[in-house]
Amino acid sequence: MPGGTGIIPAPDPVPLPAPVWLLQVLLVVTFLLHLVPMNLTVGGTMYLSLGELTRRLSEPMRQWITSYLPVTTAFTITTGVAPLLFLQVVYGQLFFPAAILIAWAWLAVIAALLLGYYGMYAYVLSSEQLGRWCTWVIVGSTLMFLYIAFAFSNAITLMSTPFRWWIMWQERNPSTNINLNIWEPTLFPRFAHFVLGAAAFFGLVTALYAVTVARKRDESAAKQMHRTGVLWFIVPTVLNYAVGPIFLFTHEPAVWQQYLGANVWATVLLWASVALSVVAVLSAGLSLRTAAPFPWLLVSTVAVSLTIVGMVGVRFWLRLQLMSIHAPEVRLHELPVQPQWGMLIFFVLVLLAGLGLVTWMVLQLQRAYAVPKTESPSGSR
Ligand code: HEM
Repeated sequence: MPGGTGIIPAPDPVPLPAPVWLLQVLLVVTFLLHLVPMNLTVGGTMYLSLGELTRRLSEPMRQWITSYLPVTTAFTITTGVAPLLFLQVVYGQLFFPAAILIAWAWLAVIAALLLGYYGMYAYVLSSEQLGRWCTWVIVGSTLMFLYIAFAFSNAITLMSTPFRWWIMWQERNPSTNINLNIWEPTLFPRFAHFVLGAAAFFGLVTALYAVTVARKRDESAAKQMHRTGVLWFIVPTVLNYAVGPIFLFTHEPAVWQQYLGANVWATVLLWASVALSVVAVLSAGLSLRTAAPFPWLLVSTVAVSLTIVGMVGVRFWLRLQLMSIHAPEVRLHELPVQPQWGMLIFFVLVLLAGLGLVTWMVLQLQRAYAVPKTESPSGSR
């Protein structure tokens, strides 16, 4: 009976189209791109759901979130495709078995995506017609998006722990069972860390939008948005100061010790990222106490951007560490490589052109929504 890591399939005999390091860089970069719209979508829908459920949704906040949701949801999906391809190419030996083992839960991502997307559009375009159902429609969409994030966390954690595969296959055959990786102690802290991060990122972008764009339309509504945004940034970030360590310490000691001095680079990367987030929290808080909040929020945004880059680096490192412990037979540097430089250059050029196009589209959207200064409603619905 296969046991331990002897279960890992042989690598794909087709050579990789680029060196492993380059594919890893592209995976990290495209995953970072995925995080931006994903955080805005998840954070925004969570805010709308909470506002609708408590009947304390302010109209300017509703207008701001519904103005961007269709765009960020579409970008969450499209920016997910590239990292999915790089993940499969580099870590296919681990990723495919994990996805097969949680087969139904993994396939359900497509259904959740369609339902969540439809619900979000229904809420944005026809809130009036939905009447009292509009609360449940947006709550449903939010749960669908959270499920997708949860399914990804399941696949990502299961791929790094192949010692669970054989037991799972035998005891809970995926063809007849709905499997998740809930025996993994890091799963829920990991998921919570991402969800809180999404709420915080949404909060900071909201505050930034309030003091730059919304301010030109309605000063008092913008002030309220600024306060709400900063609150949504600070509270989840402070909660993450508890969830983050739980996430770290639910890993085996050989892993977390790396981030507490055993490996200087891992330690510096993690704690410098945490320190930057503290800078971001302080400057966001200070932005509420000054007549010129923009510079403070700018400092906060730069610090948070660096925190996210650092944390994505930590996440990448963590995967390599887990692989070296649980899947030592997967030796990435031994994978056959036959570079197709033409295709790669083409990919990078199209990616850059796409990013330029997206920037232009966002500017156009912002211009379309920027109406002249009027008395807009700022009370609760
Ligand atoms: C609203 C929809 C989505 C949400 C809320 C979402 C959220 C997330 C979250 C939270 C993670 C991190 C999971 C972890 O590390 O534990 C993640 C990873 C990932 N997502 Fe998405 N996602 C969405 C849609 C998609 C789609 C449609 C794709 C692909 C077409 C995709 C591709 C990926 C990939 C490849 C990763 C892992 C990257 C890596 O491990 O390096 N996502 N997503």
